[in-house]
Amino acid sequence: MLRSLFIWLSGNKAVRACAERSRMGQRLAARFVAGTTVEQAVAACRRVNADGIAVTLDWLGESVAVEAEARASAQVYQRLLDAIAAQGLNANVSLKLSQMGMDIATSLAEAITGEIVERAAAVGSFVRIDMEGSAYTEATLAMTERLQARFPGSVGTVLQAYLYRTEADVERLLAQGIRIRLCKGAYREGPEVAFPAKPDVDRNYVKLMKRMVSFAKDGKGVFCGMATHDEAIVEQMLGFVGERGVAGSGFEFQMLYGVRRDLQRRLAREGFGVRVYLPFGTAWYPYFMRRLAERPANALFLARNLFRG
Ligand code: FDA
Repeated sequence: MLRSLFIWLSGNKAVRACAERSRMGQRLAARFVAGTTVEQAVAACRRVNADGIAVTLDWLGESVAVEAEARASAQVYQRLLDAIAAQGLNANVSLKLSQMGMDIATSLAEAITGEIVERAAAVGSFVRIDMEGSAYTEATLAMTERLQARFPGSVGTVLQAYLYRTEADVERLLAQGIRIRLCKGAYREGPEVAFPAKPDVDRNYVKLMKRMVSFAKDGKGVFCGMATHDEAIVEQMLGFVGERGVAGSGFEFQMLYGVRRDLQRRLAREGFGVRVYLPFGTAWYPYFMRRLAERPANALFLARNLFRG
């Protein structure tokens, strides 16, 4: 029930406007959101890098309805890529197509995203296109394929284990050498497109994760990210790659900023690639609500810390 409440709240514009302006809201979100400026994000990135952990920087924003807003977000990404190159950060970037104007026109989102990927390719970095609700899945995959054809190896996307279609999509992207981030999926989806029961989602995740690290074409694999905080799944992955002798350099674990820091550090210490998704920006509210929906116990934890000062 709490999960549904937080998902509902994540889309509520009135609550969002109040929360994003309030000092208390910003303090609560700080656990999961690394500040509101590029400078704060870069400083947080350095702290994460110091633990031997890579970063993907995400300027928060989604469902943009005005072209100027999409272009302003793109400017932030250009600045981030400049900072990554100039300061030698161990980082790349993640963005959402609805933030790049996808709801206005696909051509606009593709033009803007293309410029960002072009810049990433020029500085030897990488752009991950996050996956949103299932209404965007096909368009996101198709755009990633077109951008990969223009800038091979500089762009990848995300697949969600809760969707029935994902097994086929894994094969589709691997065959083209497109890097995949595998996650469980964070949006509200109906039983006509997604597994309604969590154990089925978890089973599908494990099956697809194993397929991704086993894939090879002409003797070459595709570097993929396993995005989960589920320790049981992480352990299954470690067991699987150990048994099969899969090189640790062929994949990485990915986790969110502020979530399971103990596990992130342990895996990095053991020599596995770990990347933290580091979101920042003023439009933090929907992202923050989705994190509470995943684990409502976090709301209590944050509230306790707040009142302790
Ligand atoms: P799951 O929810 O199954 O929980 C398993 C265990 O993990 C819990 O028991 C708890 O121990 C721990 N855990 C999980 N969430 C926690 C939290 N918030 N706080 C503390 N502990 C927690 N989704 C999407 O639809 N599109 C996308 O592009 C992305 N991108 C993305 C990038 C990265 C790097 C990550 C880690 C996740 C995403 N996601 C995403 C979100 C993803 O789909 C999913 O909603 C969350 O990762 C939660 O699923 P888990 O597999 O982590 O754990």
